Amino acid sequence: MNAIKMLVQQHRQMEEALEAVSKAEGKARATLFNQTADALMSHVMVEETHFYPAVNAHRTEGILLESLEEHLSLKRILADLIALPPDDARFEPKFHVLKEQAEHHHEEEEEKLFPKVAKLLTPDELEELGETMLAAQEKLLAADTREHAPRQTRAAAELK
Ligand SMILES: [Fe+2]
Ligand SMILES: [Fe+2]
Repeated sequence: MNAIKMLVQQHRQMEEALEAVSKAEGKARATLFNQTADALMSHVMVEETHFYPAVNAHRTEGILLESLEEHLSLKRILADLIALPPDDARFEPKFHVLKEQAEHHHEEEEEKLFPKVAKLLTPDELEELGETMLAAQEKLLAADTREHAPRQTRAAAELK
């Protein structure tokens, strides 16, 4: 699967899932939140370990560094949320910030990064990269991927 198409598709799925968490209550909210947090964290980790290194070039470096800082912010909010019971008064406002930041981050990647990547890699390369990323994500999702978030809150990941 084409790496850009895969990431865009996951952005839309994540936005729907974030919306569903906002509307859910009680136990359903906790379950949906855990699923969404796993999806978000696995997406971010696959971008950091596979996609960003593969598309790191002079013309993408600035936006990649900014993206990594946005990932750090998302991980910090996720780590906070994981530590909170979903019925805690702080859960709702914090979750709203996560949702807004995720939406903003998706927009930035899609408008600023992906058009550059589409020129940088050939369709075949994008296809191969997508396959590698899907396999890596599947492995990550075999465990509770969200649990990685609290261990990655010190600094942004390094750009390789
Ligand atoms: Fe990202
Ligand atoms: Fe993304």
